[in-house]
Amino acid sequence: MKEKMELLKKELKEKLESVSDLKTLNELKTTYLGKKGPIGELSSMMGSLSIEEKKNFGKALNDLKTEVTALLEDVRVSLEEKELNRKLESEKIDVTLPSTKVRVGGVHPITRVIEEVEDLFISMGYDVVEGPEVEEDLYNFEKLNLPKGHPARDSQDSFYITNELLLRTQTSAVQARTMEANKEKGPIRMICPGKTYRRDNDDATHSHQFHQIEGLVVDENVSLADLKGTLEVFAKKMFGETREVRFRPSFFPFTEPSIEVDVSCFKCGGEGCSLCKGTGWIEILGSGMVHPNVLRDCGYDPEKYTGFAFGIGPERVAMLKYGINDIRNFYTDDLRFLNDFNRTEGGK
Ligand code: DAH
Repeated sequence: MKEKMELLKKELKEKLESVSDLKTLNELKTTYLGKKGPIGELSSMMGSLSIEEKKNFGKALNDLKTEVTALLEDVRVSLEEKELNRKLESEKIDVTLPSTKVRVGGVHPITRVIEEVEDLFISMGYDVVEGPEVEEDLYNFEKLNLPKGHPARDSQDSFYITNELLLRTQTSAVQARTMEANKEKGPIRMICPGKTYRRDNDDATHSHQFHQIEGLVVDENVSLADLKGTLEVFAKKMFGETREVRFRPSFFPFTEPSIEVDVSCFKCGGEGCSLCKGTGWIEILGSGMVHPNVLRDCGYDPEKYTGFAFGIGPERVAMLKYGINDIRNFYTDDLRFLNDFNRTEGGK
C-alpha cells in the first residue's frame, strides 16, 4: 500500500512538471482529489481493514491527501506568479516617456480685440449688449435717420432676405434697439460687438462678413467733450499711450456732428509712410453726437437727452495692431496665420 502511495506521488510530481497552465492544473486536481480518483479508490479499501490497520491506513491516507494538496498548491502559486509577471511585463508603462503634445488653441485676433475693447468699456461702466444678425430694415436703417431711398444706403450694399428683413450691415442697429427697449428712457451706456454683413467682393481690405463694435451713451448733458475724452482713452489704450489723437469732421446720417478719429501713425510716428499713406495719421473709427431724429424716433426727448455714438471695426484694429495686411486671413483658418496667435507657440 505504501508503495502504491509513493508511486502515486511520484507520478503526480512528474505530471506536475509538465503543467504550464492553471486549467491543466485544475484538471489534475480533480483527477487526484476527486472521489473517483486514486486517493478516493484507496479510501474505499478502508472497509476491508481491521481497526488497527484502519488507524494507520487512515493516517497515511490523510498525509497523502495533505501532501498531494500541497504539491498542487505549490504549482498553482508558481503558475499564478508566472502569469502575473507575464502580465506586468506585457502591460508595462514607461512613465518617463515624453507625452504626446497637447495643442492648446489661441484666442482669435478678432476675439482678442473685442475682449480688450469690452474690458476697457466695462471698466468705464458700460454694458455689453447683443442684437440680432438678421435685422429689420427699421432698425438697421429707418430709425437711424436713413429712410428708404436715402443715398447713404448705397454705401452699405445689403443682403436682403425680404423687403423688410436683411443681414445687418452695421451694429448701429443695436443703438436703435437699445434706446427703444429702454422703457424708462433713462441713461444708456453700452457697447455692442457683433457680426455684420455687406455685399462686398472679398479682397485684401473687404470681407462680405466682418465685425463692428457699436458704442452708445445717452444721458442729460452729454457733450462732444465726453465723446472726445472717451475716444481718446480708447485710442491710447488700444494703440499706445504716446499716440496723438485727432478728431476730423465727417458725415454719418445718424450723428450730427459726425466725427472720424485718427491716431498718429504707429509705424512712422507721424512722418509719413506706406501704412499711413504718407499722411502721418491712421483712421480708426467713426463717431458723432446722436442725431436728434434718432433720439426722437427711439422715444427719447432730444430737448432733454443728448448722446454720442461710435463704431469700431475690430478687423481694422487687429490689422493695425498686429501688422496683418489681408483681412481674409481672419476667415480662412490658415494655421500658419493662426499659430502666430497661439498661446503655446509664443504668439503675439
Ligand atoms: N455704422 C457706421 C458704419 O458702418 C460706423 C459708425 C459711425 C457707427 C458713426 C456709429 C457712429 O455709431 O456714430 O460705417
